[in-house]
Formats: sequence, C-alpha cells, structure tokens
Amino acid sequence: MLNFDDDAGMAKVPVLGLQPGQGFMPGSPASVLGDKPRVATPSAMRRIRVDDKRIINGGTDVNQLVPFKYNWAWDKYLAACANHWMPQEVSMSRDIALWKDPNGLTEDERRLVTRNLGFFVTADSLAANNIVLGTYRHITAPECRQYLLRQAFEEAIHTHAYQYIVESLGLDEGEVFNAYQEIASIRDKDEFLIPFIDTLTDPNFKTGTLENDQKLLRSLIVFACLMEGMFFYVGFTQILALGRQNKMTGAAEQYQYILRDESMHCNFGIDLINQIKMENPDLWTPAFREGIQELVKQAVELEYRYAEDTMPRGVLGLNAPMFKEYLRYIANRRCQQIGVEVLYPGATNPFPWMSEMTDLKKERNFFETRVIEYQTGGALSWE
Ligand SMILES: [Fe+2]
Ligand SMILES: [Fe+2]
Repeated sequence: MLNFDDDAGMAKVPVLGLQPGQGFMPGSPASVLGDKPRVATPSAMRRIRVDDKRIINGGTDVNQLVPFKYNWAWDKYLAACANHWMPQEVSMSRDIALWKDPNGLTEDERRLVTRNLGFFVTADSLAANNIVLGTYRHITAPECRQYLLRQAFEEAIHTHAYQYIVESLGLDEGEVFNAYQEIASIRDKDEFLIPFIDTLTDPNFKTGTLENDQKLLRSLIVFACLMEGMFFYVGFTQILALGRQNKMTGAAEQYQYILRDESMHCNFGIDLINQIKMENPDLWTPAFREGIQELVKQAVELEYRYAEDTMPRGVLGLNAPMFKEYLRYIANRRCQQIGVEVLYPGATNPFPWMSEMTDLKKERNFFETRVIEYQTGGALSWE
C-alpha cells in the first residue's frame, strides 16, 4: 500500500531529473520578492506532500498527479469526460433544408447566424492556443493540468463543431473564417483578448515576481470570466433562441453542448482564480481589483457592440437592448464569483431560460434530437 506521506525509502532514490528548474516546471526558483521567496524550493529527495502543492510557483513534481490536493479540479476533469460528445453525432439535415429554403429564414436571421459563426470559428482556436501555449505551463498543480488537457481537447471539438455547421450549411468559408479580421465588432473583441493571451504565451514570461503573478492572475480572469464567461453569451443566446423556435435545431443542439462545456470551463477558471487568491493573498490589492473592474466594463461594452452589430433590428424576439441588461447581469455574477465589487447593482436576467440550457442533462435534450449516452456505454467487444 502506498503511503504518500511516508518519506521512508526515498532518501537514496534519485528523482529522475524531473524536479523544478530542469525544464518540467515553469518559473525560476531564484525569483524573489524582497526577502520572501515566491517560488517554492522543494526538498529534492522526498515524496510529494499535499501541503507542498501550489497552483502557481509550486515546487512539487508536476508529473505526479497523486496525492490529490485540488479535488475540485479532478472532479471537473471526470465530469468533463463523462460529458464527451462529438459534432458528427448531431444531425444537421433539418438545418440544411431550412437554410436552402428561400423562405426558411429571414435576412436578419441569416445575418445573425453568419456573424455568430464568424466570431466562434476562431474564438475556440484562440482559447485552445491560450491553454496549450500559455496557461498550462504556468500552472504547477497536476490535477489542474489534467483538467486543462481535457479543456484543450474540448476547445478542439468546439472549433470542429463550428466548422461542421459552416460546411453543412455550405456557407462562404472565406467570409466566415475571416470575419475576425474583417468585421469590426468581432475584431475588437479579439483585440481586447490578445494582449492577455500574449502575456501567457510569451516564451520569456515566467511567474515568480509579484508583477508577473498579478499578470498571470489578470490573464486568467480575462480568459475565464470575460472571454468564456461573457463574450460567448450573446452568441449562445442567439442560436439557442433560434432552436427554441424550432429553427436550426442541429446547430442549436451543438451550441447547447458547447455551452455546457464552456460553463464548466468558466467555473474551473473561477475555482483556479480563487485558489490562487487564497494561496497568494498579496496579489489581490485594491489597485488590482479596480483594474479588473475596468476590464469588465470594457468587455461589457465590446460584447454589447457585437450584439448591436449582429442584431441591427429585433429578431427572434431578441433585441440589442435586452442584451445590455443581460451582459450587466452576467458581469455582476462574474465579479461576485471572484470577489470583486459588482458594477451594475440590480441588473436582472432577461433570459432565465438560458440557465436551463446550461444545466443540460444528457438523457433529456432540449431539442429532442439524437443523444449519445457516453456515461454508461463504451465497453469494447473483442469478438
Ligand atoms: Fe470552447
Ligand atoms: Fe472554453
């Protein structure tokens, strides 16, 4: 029986060269803030103790998943795997027939779908690159890295789903995939995000100083709370509103699965942020929090402009002003979740039905299209 708290027998065992500072860990153990080291320097010859694990600047071997410390991260990894789905499982035949029918959708509905996909076809690649090339290497808890690996694959599935919808409907791929360069309301959202992604993906960026640890935390907040937790929500609401009117039900089902994944990404990111705050309370200064509030305001403005651009007139019972309230409601929720004072007291949710969508259970799909039950199946037959 393994006992991970037991050092006995390890003293003479070499540690396989997997210790920090040898290419497996981010950060430099030499970094200091005044007299106080920000990066843990582990005892090189002892087994990992739960108490030694840290989300950032940890000194324990990232190749050893167990002993678990951050059970919430492992639980989310298991839940994410249980929710596995693939885009091809969803039939797009009704969507294709509707899209081809000249009277199937209004011009405003078609614009909404095209602009919507114009944002999403590149957004999830951005998210995947941010995880794989940025966030992952700065996180020193292997439970969290395990979830990030799963999340990265889900981002690939999402990009696949959007591409699958574009291809199924026979949309102009050049137009849709270039929208993030050519449509101002989409480009502005991406330009807001890119400096924060660049911080984490810069090969020279290392955590271990107060300034850099705050940069990391800021980027994590922007990514989880403002990108996955806000910039996706106008788009999700639009396509799910189409589905509720029995239009584009295949696309709506794909978006429903994506929304479920994204809400878990957002919740994981919030748990990660709060854990980093607990372990590094010196990062959470009044000036830092004010800076976050400014970013939240900017994100609300950018997402609202995207809502106006995708819905110049009311469509599907939705209009841009309804989204102003919705975005303020979401912004308050994100601020509360990370412990920042809310910016829009009293904002209410004009789309309570969106919560049902987030709480999708595999066995009852909202649009009653095909459902694959991964949670109970999967046994291989060797006949
Ligand atoms: Fe995604
Ligand atoms: Fe995501």
